[in-house]
Amino acid sequence: MQFKTRISVATTLLNSFLASALALLALNAQADAYPSKPINLVVPFAAGGPTDSVARLIAVPMGKSLGQSVVVENVLGAGGTIAATKVARAAPDGYTIFIHHMGMATAPALYDKLPYDPMKDFEYIGQVADVPMVLLGRKNFPPNNFKELEAYIKANKDKVTMANAGPGAVSQLCGLIFQSRLGVRVTTIPYKGTGPALTDLLGGQVDILCDQTTQTIPYIKDNRVKVYGVTTPKRLSALPNVPTIDEQGLKGFDVKVWHGVYAPKGTPKPILDKITVALKKALTDPDVKKRLDDSNIDIVPMSKVTAESLKTHLDAEINRWGPIIRKANIPD
Ligand code: MLT
Repeated sequence: MQFKTRISVATTLLNSFLASALALLALNAQADAYPSKPINLVVPFAAGGPTDSVARLIAVPMGKSLGQSVVVENVLGAGGTIAATKVARAAPDGYTIFIHHMGMATAPALYDKLPYDPMKDFEYIGQVADVPMVLLGRKNFPPNNFKELEAYIKANKDKVTMANAGPGAVSQLCGLIFQSRLGVRVTTIPYKGTGPALTDLLGGQVDILCDQTTQTIPYIKDNRVKVYGVTTPKRLSALPNVPTIDEQGLKGFDVKVWHGVYAPKGTPKPILDKITVALKKALTDPDVKKRLDDSNIDIVPMSKVTAESLKTHLDAEINRWGPIIRKANIPD
């Protein structure tokens, strides 16, 4: 090699080494200073609904431990996929984080083309909490129990309306499995979250809704809605007299809603670590625990509030739900 060529190769190597070192220093400085402004917590459903409630509950203590506010931003539509797309494309600087439920795992089977890949376009922070669901009817809906509901729906399938929060929402998934197990299709009314769907159920505008326990327990206890069953294999401590759907004939019916917190791909690890610490603190906050307990929501063990746990769980859930959804032949 010519002397001049050798000098030029050495200069190029030195320049690239210096560039990497400077980039690393800048990254460390960015991570040290983090957070220096409020953090956006994107919620993929309407304010006042179950995902929004869990998000707002953890946002306050997370903000306290990070020393900056964590501000909830509701990004609505398409069963959570609009919000997920927005987060996948956001700057990976730690100022956009995302809470989503198992819709993150069901969307790939529900949409022909998703603008993001749940397994490639995100960083994983940790799981949050598991929420059971209940199958509800409007107060003056004729069926009084699950058996009557089955018979009524079969006899009136062209009349019955079922609310949900769009393809990718757990209300849609639960409704889909329910209809598929009964072998009927009813008219689906999509909302931008089960917050507004529940409002319409209470107002008598729709007939039935599968919703999480987050907001629904007080309405069940006050007889403002009819309850036909819980979606988990075991009865709930908050509603001990409400039978499971499984025990009423739809054997194996099992829908429990898990949640995860994510960040855009490329968010620096030291920043993700700070967010994880804040999430763990929020989930061990006694007020948060009490509020979630009251709604029969289980905070996950701290061993699940990790990137590895969330990523592994998401992967398993994508593989679990894909075949079930395709067999149930949606979307709607
Ligand atoms: C919501 O927050 O509105 C729900 O999680 C929607 C759903 O998935 O059913």
